[in-house]
Amino acid sequence: MIPLPTNSEILADSDAVARAAAERLTALCAAAPDRPIAVCLSGGSTPKRLYALLAGPDYRGALPWARLHWFFGDERHVPWDDAASNVRMVRDAFADAPIPPGNLHGIPANGSLAEDTAAYEAALKAFYGAAALDRNRPLFDLVLLGLGEDGHTASLFPGKAAIDEAHAWVAPVPEAGLAPFVPRITLTFPALASAHGVLVLVTGEAKRTPLQRLAEGEDLPAARITGPVTWLLDRAASDT
Ligand code: 6PG
Repeated sequence: MIPLPTNSEILADSDAVARAAAERLTALCAAAPDRPIAVCLSGGSTPKRLYALLAGPDYRGALPWARLHWFFGDERHVPWDDAASNVRMVRDAFADAPIPPGNLHGIPANGSLAEDTAAYEAALKAFYGAAALDRNRPLFDLVLLGLGEDGHTASLFPGKAAIDEAHAWVAPVPEAGLAPFVPRITLTFPALASAHGVLVLVTGEAKRTPLQRLAEGEDLPAARITGPVTWLLDRAASDT
């Protein structure tokens, strides 16, 4: 068994990981019944099960879709109808969910990398409004993250400048560290930590290596995930 990150929960399989995350979100919505809820979504393949579960019969009726706002932790800088787009992946997974049009806040992908990075930062600020920024209220109620085989999270890759961004909420990533090798736009570690809860969903045997490297103290980007973090691992990833 791999020494696991602090605050890890081991679940039987990827479906159990998805269900545990769905339960966390449902409870979070119930605990805040009278205000908008901001969720930051992760991309890639791991969370697809969770998103389909949320839009499915077990959870669709339990979630307050009208006041749930969905943001993205990162995006491949491609058109939203591109197969590599996280917005497309989420829209497909949420196809049956009653999301009001203004509640899905995709990272823009129609200008230059710099323009779209600035546009997403401006959209976050507009959502929160000036007053909220002064109160230092967390940006998100829940942040969902994944773990790449190289130890990245969001689009914060080893050796890329964005991992060291300490002030901006959003950063451009001209060169991705793993496929798809397209430019990325990512939230930074300060933005990802600005949450009431952070869930890192890690499933499958392929993630044993990055988990082992984290356990050995390597300064991988995922080692820099902070805030109120819980790692939801399945047995395959945690080698148990
Ligand atoms: C992305 C994700 C990325 C992902 C990891 C794990 O845009 O690709 O945000 O950070 O979470 O690469 O990806 P898998 O879930 O596909 O293993």
